[in-house]
Amino acid sequence: MTPSEKELLKKEARYCSWGDTVHYLEPPKFFERCEGTYLYDRKDTPFLDLQMWYSAASFGYRNERLRDAMMRQMDKLPQLACQYLHTEKVELAEKIARSAERLFGEQGRVHFNVGGAQAVEDSLKLVRQHTKKNLVFAFMGGYHGRTLGASAITSSFRYRRRYGHFSDRAQFIPYPYCYRCPYGKTYPSCKMYCVKQVEKLFETEYNGVWDFKAGESEYGAFYVEAIQGTGGYVVPPKEYFPMLKAILERHKILLVDDEIQMGFHRAGKLWALANFGVKPDVIVFGKALTNGLNPLSGIWAREELIKPSVFGAGSTHSTFSSNTLGTALGLEVMKICEETDYETLVNRKGKQFLTRLKALQKKYPKVIGDVGGMGLALRMEIVKPDGYAPDRAFTDLIFAEGMKGDLKTPKGNMGLVLDVGGYYKNVFTIAPSFGITEAEMDLAADLFEQLIRRCLKRR
Ligand SMILES: Cc1ncc(COP(=O)(O)O)c(C=O)c1O
Repeated sequence: MTPSEKELLKKEARYCSWGDTVHYLEPPKFFERCEGTYLYDRKDTPFLDLQMWYSAASFGYRNERLRDAMMRQMDKLPQLACQYLHTEKVELAEKIARSAERLFGEQGRVHFNVGGAQAVEDSLKLVRQHTKKNLVFAFMGGYHGRTLGASAITSSFRYRRRYGHFSDRAQFIPYPYCYRCPYGKTYPSCKMYCVKQVEKLFETEYNGVWDFKAGESEYGAFYVEAIQGTGGYVVPPKEYFPMLKAILERHKILLVDDEIQMGFHRAGKLWALANFGVKPDVIVFGKALTNGLNPLSGIWAREELIKPSVFGAGSTHSTFSSNTLGTALGLEVMKICEETDYETLVNRKGKQFLTRLKALQKKYPKVIGDVGGMGLALRMEIVKPDGYAPDRAFTDLIFAEGMKGDLKTPKGNMGLVLDVGGYYKNVFTIAPSFGITEAEMDLAADLFEQLIRRCLKRR
């Protein structure tokens, strides 16, 4: 007999560590099955999902083509020690390397691991090996994962506080978050003041990062998310990255592009940084590479940094690094990406969805302060009645009410799955399935509006 939810919660409280999860709801929510854009709970109530596992399941839940690819691999070569080669690994590496050639005009190689943070760790080793430096720059508001190395370059002190001293903590640079400009300026009259502040760091040795005599920086790389994920789907002005890249090149600092959340077309192009016309030295990827099925992550790096004569065998080896199920799925995802013009599709659907979000903002300016985004990485900032101050409590309330599964639709009760991000935890980071239809966008807007109206009664 299937155990009741109550029984399972009791066992969870007794036997599960809470260290590997986040309990945003009390009690935490169980789901039983999924399909397309929907999750279904144990009572079979559908929940329209607008976050798709933080963009890991971009190609839709239970995607049949990916399921078939996984089952074929299950029947053929479901497991293999990573010291041996298999077809899918090599073909996947080729496809990713060729994508970088196409988009950035650079030759390079691909290296696999399992989780996003592990791939970030591998990239840190690569940077250290090439530059002989431990220190890197990263952005305020940036998120790169929770292993020790990834925590050291993730902006939030809360993630580090209990785990000792991080001597290789990144130097955090303000991200161009124009809606709440860290310098209190307004784009474009700011004339890109923020990036000029980065330049200023190199103006004298007493700013702490640059030795004129040696022509050398203390920092080996700059870790960026082209569009901040956990930071609230913040899109920078188009001039920012070209200006930053010029500064980095002048000072021989590598640009590491964390595409774990925005990669695989979430922001239109296969790699989000390609939207801004600059070349990375290293790309880190994960999440949607396998659509959230058997996980696989990895890095791509320019040939000079990763060729076997410099980054040799075993530099970061892990038992599951290029596991056969993950590589078979990754290969199928890359094939899907090659066969479908996702750049056009995602930008078109993003515009359609944004129109609906903008209509909501117009109707509720005392609740929604900003909407925006790029491709299908959309954002909605929830604000206090003054129309600007972040309202975290109201954001949490909307989220929690959406998870109750009692919103009214012509087909019966439904829930709305939202994800909260942003510096002030007041941003809905909206990452729908690429398969979302216009009817589902209408439904999402309607469910959102029901939530706002309901929560306004309690404001
Ligand atoms: C931009 C970015 N980098 C790194 C990570 C860490 O990936 P993982 O959770 O797979 O370790 C995440 C996860 O949310 C992310 O969004």
